[in-house]
Amino acid sequence: MSAQVQYSEFGGPEVLSYVEVPMPSAPADGVVVETRAVGVNPIDSKLRSGARASSPLTAPRVPGSDASGVVVAVGAGVTDWVTGDQVVLRGAHGTYATHVIASAAQLVRKPAGVGWDEAAAIGVPASTAYQALRTLGVEVGSVVLIHAGSGAVGQAAIQFARNWGATVVATGGERNQARMGELGAIPVEYGPGLLQNIRAAAPGPIDIVLDAAGTDEALEASFALVADRSKIGTVVVGARAAELGIQAWAGGNPLPLTAEEQALRAEAYGVTLELMELGDFEVEIGARYPLSAAAEAQRASMSGEHRGKIILDPSA
Ligand SMILES: NC(=O)c1ccc[n+]([C@@H]2O[C@H](COP(=O)([O-])OP(=O)(O)OC[C@H]3O[C@@H](n4cnc5c(N)ncnc54)[C@H](OP(=O)(O)O)[C@@H]3O)[C@@H](O)[C@H]2O)c1
Repeated sequence: MSAQVQYSEFGGPEVLSYVEVPMPSAPADGVVVETRAVGVNPIDSKLRSGARASSPLTAPRVPGSDASGVVVAVGAGVTDWVTGDQVVLRGAHGTYATHVIASAAQLVRKPAGVGWDEAAAIGVPASTAYQALRTLGVEVGSVVLIHAGSGAVGQAAIQFARNWGATVVATGGERNQARMGELGAIPVEYGPGLLQNIRAAAPGPIDIVLDAAGTDEALEASFALVADRSKIGTVVVGARAAELGIQAWAGGNPLPLTAEEQALRAEAYGVTLELMELGDFEVEIGARYPLSAAAEAQRASMSGEHRGKIILDPSA
């Protein structure tokens, strides 16, 4: 059986429906991946609600960009992949499904030592964090401030920056202070007094800011701490980047990612999987929902109350 989650109108999570569909076959230049785990990202909900603009809905759309799985059918023109290969999907569309058609270029080999859930959790958040920090020029000795360090993007960013020899100050909610500390960041609670609290916690001047929160509070603190706005980047309020004079990648930015930024995002998958296999990068997995409960999973994702990465289980 093949099944997928679809929506035919923009709206709340209730517009999502779980439907059985014919088993897809592999195109000549692609494969079919049977998913083992699907990563839920905030962008999935923003696109479904219409909060983030996308093309008009002329046919049912399947959400999702992240998944791990097994190649179960291979097109005649594909030479590098065989059935049984364990993969992570990169830059795919419509991953809220038991079976996903992908081009060979959208496949990354999953190391045997990395779990299905963890492999499905890294795509959008880890590639975003990696590219943003590299574009901002994080290097040995940098002092980096990461807003929303407790989220999926933030936890990835803390680990990359620490791995590259930077000092990290990260903001998050009260319940996530210990987690950010475990990852090697100096944790600070967002909320009243944010700027003073960051100043008190930081070991010296902040060089670089990655904003994965998008709040006015986070932006205002960033401007007070870092005079050079080219050293401040956001992945949330891209629509305001030009007006604010900061860098932005997607997140509503009308400018597309440059070829170099896209290449960095692609590179991040292999780098992250290798670090995971070595035990130098970890993903916090939160709740797991059956694929048929995708609406509930998206509600949880946007509630602000979840902890860890939300995963859909296609087998349930
Ligand atoms: N532009 C891109 O390419 C791109 C790619 C990926 C993600 N994003 C965007 O980046 C954002 C984070 O994504 P994610 O996957 O990391 O989401 P997530 O895992 O759901 O994490 C959300 C984070 O926001 C934090 N947060 C909530 N209220 C906050 C506040 N007032 N101040 C500071 N932080 C606050 C949460 O902290 P606590 O849980 O500790 O309260 C948590 O760390 C989303 O808006 C997403 O759409 C953009």
